[in-house]
Amino acid sequence: MLRSADCGSLRSENAGDQVTLAGWIGRRRDHGGIIFLDLRDRSGAVQVVFNPETAADATRIAEEVRGEWVVQVKGTVNRRPEGSENPAMDTGDIEILTTEITVLNRSLTPPFYIEEDSEADESLRLRYRYLDLRRPPMLRNLTLRHQVVKYIRDFLSDRDFLEIETPILIKSTPEGARDFLVPSRMQPGNFYALPQSPQQMKQLLMVAGVERYFQIARCFRDEDLRADRQLEFTQLDLEMSFVEEDDILDLTEALYTGMIESVSPEKKLRKPFPRITHAEAMERYASDKPDLRFGLEMTDVSELASESEFRVFLSAIEGSGQIKGFVVPGQAGFVTGQMKDLDDTAKAAGAGGLAHIRYRGTNPVGQLSEDEILQSAGLRMPAEWHQRVADKMGAGPGDLILLLAGHQPRLNTWLSAMRTHVSELLELTDPDVLAFAFVTKFPMFEWNESAKRWDSSHHPFTAPDDGMEGELDGENLGDIKSKAYDLVCNGSELASGSIRIHNRQLQEKIFSILGLSKEETQSQFGQILEAFEYGAPPHGGIAPGIDRLVAILTGSTSIRDVIAFPKTQTGSDPLFNAPAPVGPNQLVELSLRITEQLE
Ligand code: AMO
Repeated sequence: MLRSADCGSLRSENAGDQVTLAGWIGRRRDHGGIIFLDLRDRSGAVQVVFNPETAADATRIAEEVRGEWVVQVKGTVNRRPEGSENPAMDTGDIEILTTEITVLNRSLTPPFYIEEDSEADESLRLRYRYLDLRRPPMLRNLTLRHQVVKYIRDFLSDRDFLEIETPILIKSTPEGARDFLVPSRMQPGNFYALPQSPQQMKQLLMVAGVERYFQIARCFRDEDLRADRQLEFTQLDLEMSFVEEDDILDLTEALYTGMIESVSPEKKLRKPFPRITHAEAMERYASDKPDLRFGLEMTDVSELASESEFRVFLSAIEGSGQIKGFVVPGQAGFVTGQMKDLDDTAKAAGAGGLAHIRYRGTNPVGQLSEDEILQSAGLRMPAEWHQRVADKMGAGPGDLILLLAGHQPRLNTWLSAMRTHVSELLELTDPDVLAFAFVTKFPMFEWNESAKRWDSSHHPFTAPDDGMEGELDGENLGDIKSKAYDLVCNGSELASGSIRIHNRQLQEKIFSILGLSKEETQSQFGQILEAFEYGAPPHGGIAPGIDRLVAILTGSTSIRDVIAFPKTQTGSDPLFNAPAPVGPNQLVELSLRITEQLE
């Protein structure tokens, strides 16, 4: 070994120890000929001291070394003189009195400082990702990610799960996003697809009798990137046979609580996880991934609105819309600028405008935003009407009431954006609080207006809720509930799953509702339909996103910060310069011709 101890591990108990350390040079200071260097390895940093009077040769070399050079030092651990301790460093009570230093490698001047907070632009950080990852917060993120995955493996292995790999080169199986395709050299004109998730394969493993499967699975989806979306990402994919919904939710909750208490004990984890239906989540929070760290719950006041003379409200109700909103406790005194900010947020979300009532003293006063006053020709509601709205919404003196009028599902989107905005404004979103919830009984189908057809809300393998199968022949497909569930935390979706269909006839019926012909069904899904005819057991599963979970645990604003080599917003990798053109020979081998070249 080139070292006898880790830089960050040394404490005052080690005083007097002879140590050999190796690492990178950080900051340097020169005090009257005595040189102080920070030496850093993965475990942390320690101050190493060179005194020309006691170690002349070493000091001469120390004068030469620069930031990010790799060195080995030998010396004695020394308790720092009183008053010169550095409480900001874990090793701040000690220093190393160096006798010898060897340069193991030099470094060019890095394009940005390797330190806790980097000011560097993200594209530069990704271009030099190996330097970016050398920064302590990035190494901490990778460490936590490792601990999460290790916890998952141990937890599931203890419960008789088998970790099984499934192929990356498969056949295109539509799951909502666009597939990544890989041309086959041996079969010209044919393509593999990269899995959007191992969905069908994990179900086939249940037919195979595996009973409990999991995999830390890479998934590929050619979709627009966002802070919480990458082209390739990692799921804990799991599936179980002979289970019901609660069995999967119980297991998931035990896994998450155990894991977080073990790897992130400083988090304030709320237990047990509430289980609310999709309908309830939409009604109370206007969102299928509600942030439960705070209240700001919705109330539907459509009935009262119909008694008003306010044109915006009346026309919404006439067109079978709704008037819905929430109370912001204690904020009746929001000033004009703050109200304008709320109104702008509502408009940016897509709403026509925001109506509000300030409950001042004992008498709520309605004030409509400028636009609405124009639209309603200056009409103001009688105070008595305001009082009834306030009573219905549970508002009292000092509270502010926000109301929006519109049609679902858009109204809920606007309301949810308002709720999030207000929570940020009032700083109700403590990142140390983890408020998980299961959202259950998602609708089976969603109407796709642009394609004029029904899509699966989750995916086509999801079973309808108990007693709902008969409804598949009816008119109201949008009302059918399913056995699909999500795990959400602090307003983001962390996992999705469902109890599956395990019967060929029912599965075929779903495909036909989704508009697939018999031939399309057979060519895309023939394998799983056939497997269902060979004794498929009842089964279900879930797939938690690992990247999103680690991002929440590390307080990262983007999943890019918890992935070693992520892609940029435009899907490129600035380090390897991917994607990139390939040579003409490779194209010929694959029987491909490029018809359009990027400038
Ligand atoms: P779903 O498509 O909902 O379900 O994905 C499950 C979880 O994977 C994560 N996730 C992503 N993370 C980063 N980047 C992306 N582009 C991305 N897309 C999804 C999310 C999400 O909750 N086969 C089903 C699961 C099942 O039914 O068992 C599936 O993949 O955290």
